[in-house]
Amino acid sequence: MSLSSALSIADLRRLAQRRLPRMVFDYLDGGAEDEVSLRANRAAFEALRLQPRLLRDASVRDPRVNLFGREWAMPVAVAPVGLAGVFWPQGDLHTARAAGRAGVPFILSTASSVSLEDVARGAPDTELWFQLYVISRRIADALVERALAAGYRTLVLTIDVPVSGYRERDLRNGFAQPFRVTPRTVLDVARHPGWLWRMARHGSPQLANLATVDAADAESQAALLKRQMDASFDWHALARLRERWPHRLLVKGVLHPDDARDAFALGVDGLVLSNHGGRQLDGALGALDLLPRVAALAGGRPVLVDGGVRRGVDVLRALALGASGVLLGRAVQYGLAAGGEAGAGRALALLREELDRAMALCALRQISEIGPDLLAP
Ligand SMILES: Cc1cc2nc3c(=O)[nH]c(=O)nc-3n(C[C@H](O)[C@H](O)[C@H](O)COP(=O)(O)O)c2cc1C
Repeated sequence: MSLSSALSIADLRRLAQRRLPRMVFDYLDGGAEDEVSLRANRAAFEALRLQPRLLRDASVRDPRVNLFGREWAMPVAVAPVGLAGVFWPQGDLHTARAAGRAGVPFILSTASSVSLEDVARGAPDTELWFQLYVISRRIADALVERALAAGYRTLVLTIDVPVSGYRERDLRNGFAQPFRVTPRTVLDVARHPGWLWRMARHGSPQLANLATVDAADAESQAALLKRQMDASFDWHALARLRERWPHRLLVKGVLHPDDARDAFALGVDGLVLSNHGGRQLDGALGALDLLPRVAALAGGRPVLVDGGVRRGVDVLRALALGASGVLLGRAVQYGLAAGGEAGAGRALALLREELDRAMALCALRQISEIGPDLLAP
């Protein structure tokens, strides 16, 4: 199967599985502990049945939306994904460019393999947001300053990683710090010469945002790789961040309506309801479970959701439940792993085509026509 013959995100996933060493694929594909939340994310979408009103002229359709003062080509943004350089050399840059070409925002992870400055330089036509992990307050302050200087105007604070989720696939595969080199990992890598060749040519991926801070770098890099964050970060710290960051601030990883309400009260501009793709608290509810309650209290402020979006019709489902838009995590990364920028672009193009087809099948001309009546009771 080639990129152009991939008919769905599931096909891109199969391509990624073939092209990546098993330990890298598992890092991308897996979740925490028993992967209950990972599976539930998908099941929640599949359980939502659509009930279209037909016999309305939908011969011309427009999936564009206005969100956060910008026009998006569709109500979709690319989620932050750390260590994307293990899927494809300089993966962040390739995905950022693909997002720009698709007309949707790209959220760069703190744990990116290309520095935030290099992504800003290399993808000047993309709407770039920066995702912040607070490893320590000092490093977070420095990253925020750098993001500001590099031209980022939207900051996404991820709050659901006080410690790392327990990802047993990664532990079993030795995809952890320090990397364990075993006969099995050597064999795994040797079976994927294309991947090995790409990595060998470009050098092993770094946590580029922490490569230049100072002597404490090695320590902070190790902390980021192990996802050891500042677990003391609290509402006071968020209030301080709100004061320091003069532009748009989103909070990602909200799982409780009271937290959603408090974040809005503090002046946060938008939320991402997320269980981190089932990679953090296994057993956590999913974004869709929470969405109607949060949409009701948001008072029109944007509420994004993620976790399990794999089809264009999932965008309709999320919006019908009250979301303003969705983030794509693995869906785009499968594409990146399958074929770099072209692969990430293919993932976004498939989603766009599917969304257009789903709109036609529901006789919807505009995104604004999507409402709760689209869902079967
Ligand atoms: C490999 C991988 C790495 C991720 N790294 C980050 C990260 O660095 N920061 C973050 O906020 N979320 C991270 N996430 C979570 C995503 O931003 C997003 O919430 C999640 O992938 C959505 O679920 P989906 O993959 O089913 O679409 C990561 C997810 C994956 C799959």
